[in-house]
Amino acid sequence: MDKFIIHGGKKLSGKVSVSGAKNSSLALMPATLLNTGENVIYNTPEVNDIYTMIKLLSHIGVETEFKNHTLRLNTKKIVSQEAPYEHVKKMRASVYVLGPLLARYGYAKVSLPGGCAWGPRPINLHLEAMKKLGAVVDLDEGYIVAKASKLIGGKINFDVSSVGATGNALMAAVLAKGTTLITNAAIEPEITLLADDLVKMGAKIDGIGTTTIEIEGVDELTACDIENIPDRIEAGTLLIAAAITQSKIELDNVKTEHLDSLLNKIEMSGVKLFNQNDKIIADAENLCPDSVDVTTSVYPGFPTDMQAQWIAYMSLAEGTSKVTDAIYHDRFNHVPELIRLGANIEVVNNSAIVKGVKGLKGAKVMSTDLRASACLVLAGLAAEGITEVLRIYHLDRGYQKIEEKLKTLGADIQRVTTSEF
Ligand code: EPU
Repeated sequence: MDKFIIHGGKKLSGKVSVSGAKNSSLALMPATLLNTGENVIYNTPEVNDIYTMIKLLSHIGVETEFKNHTLRLNTKKIVSQEAPYEHVKKMRASVYVLGPLLARYGYAKVSLPGGCAWGPRPINLHLEAMKKLGAVVDLDEGYIVAKASKLIGGKINFDVSSVGATGNALMAAVLAKGTTLITNAAIEPEITLLADDLVKMGAKIDGIGTTTIEIEGVDELTACDIENIPDRIEAGTLLIAAAITQSKIELDNVKTEHLDSLLNKIEMSGVKLFNQNDKIIADAENLCPDSVDVTTSVYPGFPTDMQAQWIAYMSLAEGTSKVTDAIYHDRFNHVPELIRLGANIEVVNNSAIVKGVKGLKGAKVMSTDLRASACLVLAGLAAEGITEVLRIYHLDRGYQKIEEKLKTLGADIQRVTTSEF
């Protein structure tokens, strides 16, 4: 098992490039199950969740080759329509194979994911959507078994906006007979990219990028190549790294239009931002950041995947801020760890009340999930002395060698193999 040892207090400077987005890749990869041929996804990040999805798709029969961020997926020899528990328990996004397998093969058996580190994350909306398209869905020994000789277009209205359920519904509806209308669809950039990808395969979709999507089912889809988008959460995490260390850095390969709400909050805290095409410069030199409240919401609102990093930043701001997570009410496992570093934070219902302190002091802390790990790394960069972040396998699920990027920027961070758990 690996941990990070961070000698905090170093200023950052220079330039790094943001990797491709994990969460869009995790939708684009299973979407290839809808066709028969060789698909290519460019700009795929080399992170463990991608390797988990590769293993799952290989089990299903997809032949893959992954080199230099180019992922080739050949779907000519599908041998199974099953997502076993061993894969799904590692990564909930495995559920993305449900829609395409059902649509293409009339059958899918997918292990039901259990709870996640910060509480329940149901998939009822995914299953309801499949039923609306005519599938019969049963639960058998911990597995969802979905069947339909041919899916039939239908009306799907999501009570709650869901990235994953919208993705699954889209992937099922493109091969359904007739028209499907999805209302209250998610409009996260990762879903918009998925819809664009499906259109490249030959799907007929109207309303892409809006909350009302109309799909006219087609008989078959063809393989295609697609360029992945940059990871907006990695970009946001690196911007906070500059802000929390009072530094000036430049990021390449950024789509700033995907980051509007976060950039707005970063500017409100006092950081100067300069955008140019696909670059952004964050200048936080000599900054004494102001406290800024945030409430997470669906896109284009402030992302829940940046909530933990924002709390780390606000723990060193002037004054008190309230950080509310309206998407995942219990996603606060990072707070007790930040308190070990000297932060003053109280969680009340789904809000963290963060009273800014003058400084944090290094300590051993433990990662509990992907974004919590990123938050602890950020806090460690700013803390005085040595911070050890344990269990960084969580971080490796979604950040491509973040320590290398931080080192390029001048941080003192080492990855060390340890027997500590
Ligand atoms: N929800 C339901 N029922 C469902 C599905 C979702 O009640 O069937 C609720 C959830 O409990 C939550 C809300 O709907 O309160 C939104 O969840 P959503 O379905 O949008 O989340 P997801 O698709 O499971 C993706 C990302 C997450 C990110 C969320 C929210 C992927 C692979 N994962 O999850 O990313 O937090 O959207 O933006 O795209 C991460 O990268 O660290 C991560 C957790």
